[in-house]
Amino acid sequence: MTSSLKSTKLPLVLAMLGLTAAAIAGCGTSDPAPISGDFNDRGRQLFTAKCGTCHKMAQAASTGTQGPDLDAAFAAAREVGMDEETIRSIVHNQVLHPRPPEEGFPGVNMPADIVTGNDLDDVAAYVARYAGVPGAAPPKAPGEGPGAQVYAENGCGSCHTLAAANSAGVLGPNLDEVIPGMSKAEIKTSIVDPNASKAKGYENVAMPDSFDSIPADQLNQLIDFLVTSAAADNSGG
Ligand code: HEC
Ligand code: HEC
Repeated sequence: MTSSLKSTKLPLVLAMLGLTAAAIAGCGTSDPAPISGDFNDRGRQLFTAKCGTCHKMAQAASTGTQGPDLDAAFAAAREVGMDEETIRSIVHNQVLHPRPPEEGFPGVNMPADIVTGNDLDDVAAYVARYAGVPGAAPPKAPGEGPGAQVYAENGCGSCHTLAAANSAGVLGPNLDEVIPGMSKAEIKTSIVDPNASKAKGYENVAMPDSFDSIPADQLNQLIDFLVTSAAADNSGG
């Protein structure tokens, strides 16, 4: 399934390597930020919130299709010997100066400067550590039961706070607060069809509408996890 992607992406990344070689040699690049691999790792959170909506990457469990699959893109690069530091520079450069859209992605422009400064360092180091690395997988999730893993793999925690999952995202509503007041049906709709009704105070913030691809059994596990863990955690009022 990815083999065709891979072969079309190889020249793309190699072209970027050529384009960025001068920049790499020319400017004093800082050391890559350390990547802990923890569930709450900052680079991973930023990636999920800012990049995963357009880019697929296994370690981030992101499913975006508006931009290239970053595993496919950098697996090919690693195969021909590109090292982590070079990939970091390419990602850094792409975020600051996105290349104009290629044929494969008509009409989609990657916006410039989505992240900058330390955030950019963290995201670039994160992508360089994991994109295209064989077997890269999301970190094991904190929390009880299979639904905790579904929550982690779909990056819910990068936008939502849920104590049981050890997640502290603030882009979306605090799930410890809102879940106890929602029925299972409402929770389900919020996940698979987030535009159907927007949470109060978040009318202008978008939750990705790609979670309708979560298989039905995993979705049920996720909802059970939310209901039991948010309720358990809210006992103090
Ligand atoms: C709105 C969608 C969108 C967002 C958000 C986005 N990108 Fe992109 N990205 C694209 C598109 C489209 C391309 C392909 C551009 C091209 O044709 O080279 C791309 C290309 C790339 C490439 C080059 C891949 C290759 O095959 O050579 C990298 C690396 C990249 N993006 C990283 C990121 C990172 C890191 C973020 C978050 C900070 C991000 N992108 C956010 C749409 C997006
Ligand atoms: C990129 C950020 C982002 C991600 C990732 C994300 N959400 Fe959201 N979520 C939001 C935002 C913003 C809202 C509020 C707007 C809305 O209701 O659509 C929201 C709303 C919700 C609501 C409704 C809350 C209410 O008060 O009505 C639930 C439930 C929810 N999300 C659960 C999840 C789950 C479960 C996941 C993972 C499968 C997830 N979200 C992933 C940003 C996100």
